[in-house]
Amino acid sequence: MPRCLVRGSINVDEFFQVKDFVRPGQTISSTELVKRLGGKGANQSVAIARAGGVVDFVGAIGSDGLGVRDDLKNAGVNVDQTRLVEESTGRAIIQVNAAGENSIILFKGANYASITPPPIHPDTTYMVFQNEVPLASTIEFLTLARGSNIATVFNPSPMPTPDELRSFPFDKITWLVVNEGEVAELCEALDVAVKTEGFDLVEDARKLVLGLAGRLRSTNIICTLGADGVLAKFCVSDECVHLPAAKLQGPPLDTTGAGDCFTGYMVAGLMQLEGNVVSEHIAVLQRAIQAAGMCVERAGAASSIPLRAEVESRLR
Ligand code: ADP
Ligand code: NA
Repeated sequence: MPRCLVRGSINVDEFFQVKDFVRPGQTISSTELVKRLGGKGANQSVAIARAGGVVDFVGAIGSDGLGVRDDLKNAGVNVDQTRLVEESTGRAIIQVNAAGENSIILFKGANYASITPPPIHPDTTYMVFQNEVPLASTIEFLTLARGSNIATVFNPSPMPTPDELRSFPFDKITWLVVNEGEVAELCEALDVAVKTEGFDLVEDARKLVLGLAGRLRSTNIICTLGADGVLAKFCVSDECVHLPAAKLQGPPLDTTGAGDCFTGYMVAGLMQLEGNVVSEHIAVLQRAIQAAGMCVERAGAASSIPLRAEVESRLR
């Protein structure tokens, strides 16, 4: 079975239900506290596992993170390379007010601990990165991948600084996954001149993706557009394909984690392909879009990522 290595973040997300956000000097009570597994690396790993992929998560927790590491393991992710370090686990303190809005404090903690790469399993065919761990570590793992013919997926979220982007080795990235805001920031940082009109989100994003693709010629670019679906620019084609979002059964309930669900399903699908056939890549993206839509129909992040069989039943 092909394997995928995710080098990324794992957090304890703490949701405090409050009437109004706390103000300076004020102490308020929370009516409810829910702790959940979080972090983009962990969420994408859960999505890869639920989609049927074999996934090794490489990250770090403190002794206060054993519970979320167990959650990750119980979701079917191999956590043998999840290191225990002398720091606090990454943590998000999330106030949720009566209107359902969030206010978040993020502590990176153990996610920024330096870790040495593990021996790479010989069956590894993909490596997956976000930007919630030190960028230097991402680059170190990318260099390992290059030496061993492993395909790489990079979801640069949160965005690196313009300086970091200018020196980033994009030639080592096989698949870049961005949203409409991130593709605009990337074009800006890399001096890719694109004129957008500001009327049509899909058309503006298409121009940005095509502009960026002209610069990153060896990278496939996937741009997610929320309720407007996905744009795909494959290296082997000059076109930029638009795939609409999934039809939801009911109103969008919670978009948290939809992007991570999409990326995880995309990776698991790519791992199962053998050749480089555009129609097969599009089928993989359509399954990932359906999975992300189902994630939006449910509350929660990692917990709302659907199982492969549920996704397949909705595609039929
Ligand atoms: P991010 O949170 O990373 O910006 P997006 O908001 O673009 O990610 O969402 C990722 C994917 O989730 C979209 O491409 C789409 O397929 C799906 N999605 C997000 N919001 C909706 C929605 N309101 N309706 C249907 N699908 C959605
Ligand atoms: Na999202």
